[in-house]
Amino acid sequence: MSGESAAAPAGRFYLTTPIYYVNDKPHIGHAYTSLAADVLARWKRLEGRDVFFLTGTDEHGQKVEKAAADAGMEPQAFTDRVSGSFRDLAVRMGFSNDDFIRTTEERHKRACAALWERLKAAGDIYLGHYEGWYAVRDEAFYGPDELIEKDGIKLAPTGAPVEWVREPSWFFRLSAWEERLLRFYEEHPDFIAPTTRRNEVLAFVRSGLQDLSISRTSFRWGVPVPGDPEHVMYVWLDALTNYITAVGYPDEGDPLWRFWPADIHFVGKDILRFHAIYWPAFLMAAGIETPRRIFAHGWWTNEGQKISKSLGNVIDPLALIDEFGLDPVRFFLLREVPFGNDGDFSRRALIGRLNSELANDLGNLANRVLSLIQRNLDGRLPAAEAPTEADQQLLGPADALPAGVAEALDRQAYHEALERVWQVVRLGNSWIDGQKPWSLKKTDPVRMAAVLRSLHQALRVLATVLQPFMPATMAAMLDQLGVEAGERSLAALAVPLPEGRALPPPAPLFRKIEDAA
Ligand code: ME8
Ligand code: MG
Repeated sequence: MSGESAAAPAGRFYLTTPIYYVNDKPHIGHAYTSLAADVLARWKRLEGRDVFFLTGTDEHGQKVEKAAADAGMEPQAFTDRVSGSFRDLAVRMGFSNDDFIRTTEERHKRACAALWERLKAAGDIYLGHYEGWYAVRDEAFYGPDELIEKDGIKLAPTGAPVEWVREPSWFFRLSAWEERLLRFYEEHPDFIAPTTRRNEVLAFVRSGLQDLSISRTSFRWGVPVPGDPEHVMYVWLDALTNYITAVGYPDEGDPLWRFWPADIHFVGKDILRFHAIYWPAFLMAAGIETPRRIFAHGWWTNEGQKISKSLGNVIDPLALIDEFGLDPVRFFLLREVPFGNDGDFSRRALIGRLNSELANDLGNLANRVLSLIQRNLDGRLPAAEAPTEADQQLLGPADALPAGVAEALDRQAYHEALERVWQVVRLGNSWIDGQKPWSLKKTDPVRMAAVLRSLHQALRVLATVLQPFMPATMAAMLDQLGVEAGERSLAALAVPLPEGRALPPPAPLFRKIEDAA
């Protein structure tokens, strides 16, 4: 069991997204979780860490089986198709995942069977009979006291319809893990984030845990239980196992096994219980190290309304990218809403941020500086001089920025990381207005060159730290700044670019959106 704190050792870094159900095509919520993981993965690589970033699809269970039947398809053919649309989304969103796991793969069935055998050998599994409520939409069991009633119909607290299930089932002795889980949370205060969610989990565990049904017999679409093929594994036991399958389990000699335990599992608040309670209990029971952190983010609504198929207001991330471009969409999703909180998607807010923060603040700053270097210095980078007190007003905050961004990202506070970046962007704009390099050309060309060099240095820092958020646009910005491919890591910022480097003619990085709507 992991004894140390949430601070991971330098070196490897493993992060995951939920594996998404293939009952339907992806929407903005799926893109959002994976985007957050992608930005952290890219940041850790920029820091020089050995990163493994996993995403994929959850393909078994009653919900997927039913969706396949509704589509008139065999489950495997159906899941092949829908899983493909999640894979396409990852490509279109620019995700840098190192693997894409599908739970219908052989490697995964093998890992599930091995974990089952470990749990059984440990005496944590027994055969019994399940009788109780089940919500197919959530693939979750609910106690009678958790249900709500609406128009005489019983619903899960999530609003999902429930049905009464009665069938032979294998159980995991979750009730026996209550005390050990509470001790585990106590010893690992950073295991569940944010704090409000942590408190919810603690309250739930303190209220008492029931043994968990971990197999089903009333349908077939799942991983067979070893030695008892009438049963398929409960889809959540199957799904959670993906995180160890992908790093080689059960082959602990696999070179990828060095990545376990995961540094962070990103999830939405809807699936925190499975990750924060069941998953560490399964792992502790099997004698496998527990992950270091689970971050449960909030829920997106669309113009104030819950996103749902029946309301017809599902936001298609691909349509957004087509309209606004990939990087502006990536920026907006993490800039607008504090990660962890619920957030509302609005076109007005999106367009407002893109025009003011990207096109005006950052785009104009880059364009002003690069145009002046082009026009007044023949497009050649001036020498880095010893900074004056005035230069320090800009360079001090700029040079401190990478550490500030790192600190915020280690708390998954993306909005704070971006706010820290924009403080420097805004400072750059007010600083250039104060220094007026355009009016120094005739009066003091030496100072003009020094001012432009300081601004260039600040822009280099900005573009470097923003790479994880807007990879393609920041690559273009670094090109325009004359920063070569090998000079784009955080460590490279310590080495000034040589005087005289030729910069290509600048071009606008962001376009302004005209929108009447
Ligand atoms: O739960 N706002 O898969 P799923 C923000 N297969 N995030 C949202 C969202 C919204 N409106 N809608 C969905 C499953 N999400 C299981 C996971 S993991 C071992 C198995 C995101 O397809 C959010 O991350 O229902 C949420 O947790 C996830 O999609 C649920 O995806
Ligand atoms: Mg769901």
